[in-house]
Amino acid sequence: MAIDQTDDGKVILSNSTSAVTILLHGATILSWTHKGQELLWLSENAILDGSKAVRGGIPLVFPVFGPAPKGSEFDGLPQHGFARLSEWEFLGQTEENTIQFGLGPENIVDEKLKAAADGWSKDFTIILTVELADDYLKTGVTVENTEKGESAKPWRFNWLFHSYFRVQDVEAIQVRGLQGSKLVEDKVALAAAEDRVATAAKYPFEATDETITIHSEVDRVYGSADEAISVITKEGKPLVSIEKENLSDVVVWNPWTEKAEGLKDFTPKAGFKQMVCIELGHVAEFQTLQPGEKWNASQKIFHNLKL
Ligand code: BG6
Repeated sequence: MAIDQTDDGKVILSNSTSAVTILLHGATILSWTHKGQELLWLSENAILDGSKAVRGGIPLVFPVFGPAPKGSEFDGLPQHGFARLSEWEFLGQTEENTIQFGLGPENIVDEKLKAAADGWSKDFTIILTVELADDYLKTGVTVENTEKGESAKPWRFNWLFHSYFRVQDVEAIQVRGLQGSKLVEDKVALAAAEDRVATAAKYPFEATDETITIHSEVDRVYGSADEAISVITKEGKPLVSIEKENLSDVVVWNPWTEKAEGLKDFTPKAGFKQMVCIELGHVAEFQTLQPGEKWNASQKIFHNLKL
């Protein structure tokens, strides 16, 4: 296993067949290749200089998923929180095929972000563990409430691995493993609904689709998804299968034509045909941590390419 650090803030972990590239900005996984074949989708004009979240790869969502709820303790934080906008620290190698990255309040240096994060103002440590093998990429996280003393308080958060997978043709794939989970929210259906209140009141309900196919904009949150999730190709083979620990929810997102058009950092505009976001996390509800408590979760993505 080799570890390389580049001058432009990347860490590359590789073995004889596979490589994973992590940008310190956001500890965003930019690329995962096996025998030169890329498994993740990254926008051609993704912004990698730290001024914006990366469009593609695997950005990390913490402490809030989506827009911060008005009037909540997250109010003022940017969409999907600050973890994907912060400079993480490279902590080094912990096992032969494993490296770690860390984030704490002291790593948030950007003035605007710091002001927003100060509003949230909790003491925390996050450790991201990236493990690479010939047949899988595992990302694990430990979130710790490090508040101490008399003023120490519990706090709550969301976590999400916002993975963008590269596919040949998004209309030809199927997503499996969500049958029996709860459809917590369908943002596209909600936006189109004549009566939003009545539509919102229907959630959550049991998802009955054995497979999900994508032929238009999709933005759904599934909760209590127990099964491993897989993306199946046109030929009926799994492209990736994802095993998960302690990640109860799955977001399926594809912006399709209009939304991709509106995203400045989404290139090529027709790129939505070559990507699907399958995002595993804890977002349907907040997870609460008492002072001194830790929360662990992970996803292990297996590819189906020749070893
Ligand atoms: C998904 C959300 O997780 O992320 C979508 O469900 C959102 O609603 C998408 O549009 C992309 O978000 P962003 O902030 O990276 O543009």
